[in-house]
Amino acid sequence: MTDRILVTSALPYVNGIKHIGTLAGSILPADVYARFQRLLRRDVLFVCGTDEHGTPAELAALEAGLPVAEYCARQHAAQAEIYRRLGISFDHFGRSSSPANHALTRHLFLCLEAEGFIEERVLQQVWSHADRRFLPDRYIVGTCPHCGDRAARGDQCDSCGRLLDPVELVAPRSALSGSAALETRETRHLFLLQSKLADRLRLWLEGRHDWDPLVLSLARGLLDQGLRDRCITRDLAWGVPVPKSGWEGKVFYVWFDAPIAYVALTQEWAEAAPGRDWHEWWRRGPGTRLVQFLGKDNVAFHALMFPATILGSGADIRLVDRIKGFSWLTWGGGKFSTSRQRGIFLDAALDELPADWWRWWLTANAPEASDTRFTPAGFADGCNADLADGLGNLVSRVLSFAATRFDGRVPDMGQAGEAEARLAIEADAIIGACAGHFTAIRPRRACESLRALWSLCDRYFAAQEPWRTIATDRDRAACATRTAINLLRLSAVAASPVLPHTSRRIAEALGGARPAIWPARAEEWLREPGGPAVCPPGVAFPRLPPDWAASVASRYHL
Ligand code: MF3
Ligand code: ZN
Repeated sequence: MTDRILVTSALPYVNGIKHIGTLAGSILPADVYARFQRLLRRDVLFVCGTDEHGTPAELAALEAGLPVAEYCARQHAAQAEIYRRLGISFDHFGRSSSPANHALTRHLFLCLEAEGFIEERVLQQVWSHADRRFLPDRYIVGTCPHCGDRAARGDQCDSCGRLLDPVELVAPRSALSGSAALETRETRHLFLLQSKLADRLRLWLEGRHDWDPLVLSLARGLLDQGLRDRCITRDLAWGVPVPKSGWEGKVFYVWFDAPIAYVALTQEWAEAAPGRDWHEWWRRGPGTRLVQFLGKDNVAFHALMFPATILGSGADIRLVDRIKGFSWLTWGGGKFSTSRQRGIFLDAALDELPADWWRWWLTANAPEASDTRFTPAGFADGCNADLADGLGNLVSRVLSFAATRFDGRVPDMGQAGEAEARLAIEADAIIGACAGHFTAIRPRRACESLRALWSLCDRYFAAQEPWRTIATDRDRAACATRTAINLLRLSAVAASPVLPHTSRRIAEALGGARPAIWPARAEEWLREPGGPAVCPPGVAFPRLPPDWAASVASRYHL
């Protein structure tokens, strides 16, 4: 058995609070997985951080009128606070701009250079006189040569969808200043010779049998097209400076240093307390399993580019053991978009409803094999059925009964019988399936199991009819009530990876938390003696009113 499980989520870009799609397609499933593995008592380390370099961060700072370092510091703090409120259980949430990442990025680059995997090439790029900088393709705008749209970008025309080269644009100008004083200039850059590493990457990828088809077919497809060498430097001021004389004013490409930050973040975590060793988590060989969560647009970087960086450098850094890729959360026909301010952003989401509502719906409808369409009405229906009518109603019914008929305590009388033995067997089957789904990272199916557990408890309580038997057989009624409460306690722990806040509240309402451990044997849980005081209603999931969906749809332009 693997002792250590290192979990990462794709590092969210620093510019701006993310939307619920970023949560659904990387951070949340990573958190659910990390929380589940902790319940199994595995040694888990969950690291993430803001991705801070690159042109978008630089430009967002410009727009905000702040020095870029200051802008990033503020935005990092704002994002960290949102993830805390969402109950994301990072062991460390750091920054790709940290000194540790600068140092490690420089180090790995120098290793790659020493091993002969770096080459200097001269490129033609567009220089803007007014902005006094080279412009990345998407910061050049002009008229599309195909459809005549006047707002085409240098990399693509959004109106007709064609991919473009900046030189094709009619009347090109800078998207930053609007200036048309552009000129093509020569500039030197460094390339990572991925083509020389393609065979080693292919061999390694051939051994990755347990990855999802989505991820494997993307990665193998890219290899089959022929892996191209990649330019890993940019003419920018903000980033990790290239550690070579004569290369002042150039920094590494953000996609070179960001994945390296996974390792640097672990180093930072290790340095924060005695007795921690980052290399234990990252060295090759048995003992650790590295599981990375990301959106499908990130697959190329995690399955090819970062592994190429590691392999080429010769460093003793492990390659990813499992990549879990996700599709998109869409609304209507489109993608949520940070840059276009379209969709529900995480701060707004938390103003609407507590974290667990979002956590539940986005896990139960995770965009696994295909895109998930988010609609406010679908969200309201799902939450009303599962949380309000399902879990919430169940907890309050059972607890109110204990409160009113057994003096506010979990009753202690009565012996478990045949019904309870059957219940334990059924619960075990569901719990086993649920653990299987969490382990295999099938969030939707794990939620189906949780629903099944709640409904099992519901059927048991209804079939036992303790409100009726209490008149004739108080022991039987007591046993049924206690058993239902114990099954709820078990269900709360099983649901805690998805619903951490609710689970804690349920545990408290049931008379205090038990040690957080996966309930592998239902019988032991159902046998718990009575005694503790219960406090209804404990858990409240009010139904979302009928006009909720329409109001959200209109306020967020969905
Ligand atoms: N910031 C990137 C995105 O949101 C993800 C970076 S992941 C890392 O698409 F590996 F580079 F860190
Ligand atoms: Zn066009």
